[in-house]
Amino acid sequence: MPLRITTLAERPEFAGALWRMATSWPDFMLEDPIADLYYPVCHEIYPEYVLVADDDADPGTLVARALSVPFHWASAIGGASDGASDGAFDGNGLPDDGWDGAVRRGWLARARGRSLNRVSAVEITVRPDRQGGGLSARMLAAMRTNAARLGFTELLAPVRPTQKHLEPRTPMKEYAFRTRDDGLPYDPWLRVHVRAGGQILKVARRSMTIAGTLDEWRRWTGLPFDAPGAVEVPNALVPVHVDLAQDHAVYVEPNVWVRHPLPPTG
Ligand SMILES: CC(C)(COP(=O)(O)OP(=O)(O)OC[C@H]1O[C@@H](n2cnc3c(N)ncnc32)[C@H](O)[C@@H]1OP(=O)(O)O)[C@@H](O)C(=O)NCCC(=O)NCCS
Repeated sequence: MPLRITTLAERPEFAGALWRMATSWPDFMLEDPIADLYYPVCHEIYPEYVLVADDDADPGTLVARALSVPFHWASAIGGASDGASDGAFDGNGLPDDGWDGAVRRGWLARARGRSLNRVSAVEITVRPDRQGGGLSARMLAAMRTNAARLGFTELLAPVRPTQKHLEPRTPMKEYAFRTRDDGLPYDPWLRVHVRAGGQILKVARRSMTIAGTLDEWRRWTGLPFDAPGAVEVPNALVPVHVDLAQDHAVYVEPNVWVRHPLPPTG
């Protein structure tokens, strides 16, 4: 079935369809406040960085989307990084605040008129009824090609490993670098990135932070949230920290920084 993948700039009529597409994201993952700096405005501000896909089975109906964000990054330790404290950078120059940091730096760069010298993946989402058919690799390839077309020499990705939720107590630094006998990553989504040419660099230890009152967490998950401490939540990559006395809970999601070097476009 021929698949059409274009930017939203090429097909702006898909702007509304972007958020109507069914997805398998767990509800609590939609509650990161930093997302407000990207999703409500991405069709206006970042249409060249939003990829939409449909096919001949149902032209005009989205089967997948791939979102990215350009940002400013002064990578030297102690450099003038937009909005990031020096402590956000470690020895190899990649920030621990992964996804949140990329979106926030993109926003700050625009507000301050700084150059957009890096690009990060934000998400690749395949419609649930079309998952398992290899579409994700095609969307990732298209995201890489698009970043190269826009003049970037690498695509950064704070990757959310898709099977990590099955072992939430395992430290991400152990999971991220686990390989199969063939040398490829154990996690299927990291595998897709590595097959595409990505290099797994490090764990972004606090890539997304989602805080809520206990009532909000109950609404987002359907769980009682009546026990303190580290609570396992379905589809969360690590446990959620629950404080009954303060009536709140906080989820700090680690992701995995993957760097995709990009060939120059002719
Ligand atoms: C992650 C996602 C994009 C993958 O898309 P997909 O089209 O279903 O995946 P593919 O068919 O291309 O398969 C990719 C790999 O995952 C594996 N895979 C797919 N579904 C799987 C499942 N339910 N369990 C285990 N592995 C699975 C495939 O076998 C393949 O790995 P392999 O070829 O090395 O064996 C899709 O599941 C999705 O949209 N999930 C929700 C959003 C999300 O988590 N996005 C990623 C973070 S940004």
